[in-house]
Amino acid sequence: MNISGKTSVIGLIGNPVEHTLSPVIHNGLGERLNIPSVYVPFLVEKEGLSAAVKGAYALHIKGLNVTVPHKNDVMDSLVEIDEAAAAIGAVNTLVRCEEKGGYKGYNTDMSGLRRQMKEDGISLKGETVVILGAGGAAKAVAYMCLIEGVAKIYLLNRTVEKAGEIAGKLDPEGKVIVPMALADYGKLLEGLEKWIVFQATSIGLAPHIDQVVIEDGSFYDRVKIGVDLIYNPAETKFMKLVAAHGGKAFNALKMLLYQGIIAYELWHDMTVPEDVAAEIYTELRRQVYPKDNIVLIGYMGSGKTTFGKALAKHFDMDFLDTDGYIERQAGKKISEIFAEEGEEAFRKLETEALTGLRDSLQHTVVATGGGMPLRPENARLLREIGRVCYLTAAPQVIYERVKEDGNRPLLKGEDPYGTICRMMKQREPMYRRAADVAVDANCDSIEEMLERLIPAVGVE
Ligand code: ATR
Repeated sequence: MNISGKTSVIGLIGNPVEHTLSPVIHNGLGERLNIPSVYVPFLVEKEGLSAAVKGAYALHIKGLNVTVPHKNDVMDSLVEIDEAAAAIGAVNTLVRCEEKGGYKGYNTDMSGLRRQMKEDGISLKGETVVILGAGGAAKAVAYMCLIEGVAKIYLLNRTVEKAGEIAGKLDPEGKVIVPMALADYGKLLEGLEKWIVFQATSIGLAPHIDQVVIEDGSFYDRVKIGVDLIYNPAETKFMKLVAAHGGKAFNALKMLLYQGIIAYELWHDMTVPEDVAAEIYTELRRQVYPKDNIVLIGYMGSGKTTFGKALAKHFDMDFLDTDGYIERQAGKKISEIFAEEGEEAFRKLETEALTGLRDSLQHTVVATGGGMPLRPENARLLREIGRVCYLTAAPQVIYERVKEDGNRPLLKGEDPYGTICRMMKQREPMYRRAADVAVDANCDSIEEMLERLIPAVGVE
């Protein structure tokens, strides 16, 4: 990171802040968008909150996120509060407001969830919604449901009084929100309608991944869409039950992504492009769901299979080559897929295969087809599968390795060496962008390549 006199500071105040994922989002955005900003977590204790906000303003800090335990109390230190944040009673983003000489507070948790729902194609208008829980998160969900025009909200909580409080504040006339005790969920089963359910309790969070507030299958028979506000584990017990009973299940990692992106957009008065958001989402997934696979990319003949197998043997890992995997899945050769169904169909199969591998593969060295990382979507999936290592080799070395191979249709033309040079030059930046590390593979000795690869692939 290049810090200069023009670098602006953004950050997070909370206690604790050590485990925050927000730097991944904001520093990642700054880097990709070429905006000179740096995001720093600040530990702020309760007694220091108001001084911290004042001091931040004096230091010309452009904006701050606010996390536990300050989301309510910070409101006393602001010059203005956005309407939604005021209604929810929680602020997670402070935006510098020069005219008023302080910060304005927003709640991007709520708008982040709203953007996630839009992206996942879920519309709330006219729906019946069940919210499990009545803490801060449940309140933000209830507010979002109200502004999206749901028909009814059943707000279920172990402590029914807390559900009643939220209903009283957000829907004082009692037209939409029905507060209920969690234990009374059976009453909901008397009707026939299907619901969208938000799981907004802390139950099911890692490491207590086998817990869920309602176990009863007849409840889940009525869930058409279930959104868990927990994102770790990736699939909570609640989500498993929703899916097992035929509903669509989502976690809320995208809400985390979008609450950050919306904050960044407010701070910098701009819109983050979708492809950049997708890249940041990949980086978040890598942090939250780390995988111990090694992915080798590079041009044909760069040694992905040969060195990959040796690497797998060395670390006692499994080995998989994606082309072979796709052929087994499709029940035919890649050349046949191309001939019969066309390139587009093959690329679709690649993406499907990578999505499956992303969710299942462990402790495996993966050798990829040479063209695989060229599609941004596939490059992102590869990064989610594991640490991506680019094997670089000179065109001359590649040519020597592959010239006798009759199975390479690309080399059957008039000037195979020229073709290799052209294609490698074109692909080089895409390989670099997809990779965590590049290793020089201009070397035919397996032992020597292992010596180069072992320190690069990050296995402990
Ligand atoms: P957040 O701000 O993330 O919403 P919170 O305000 O602490 O967190 O809320 C936690 C929610 O999980 C509450 O709805 C809580 O229910 P209570 O209000 O009855 O405490 C719910 N919760 C926590 N432990 C629970 C348990 N063992 N069974 C049922 N609900 C539980």
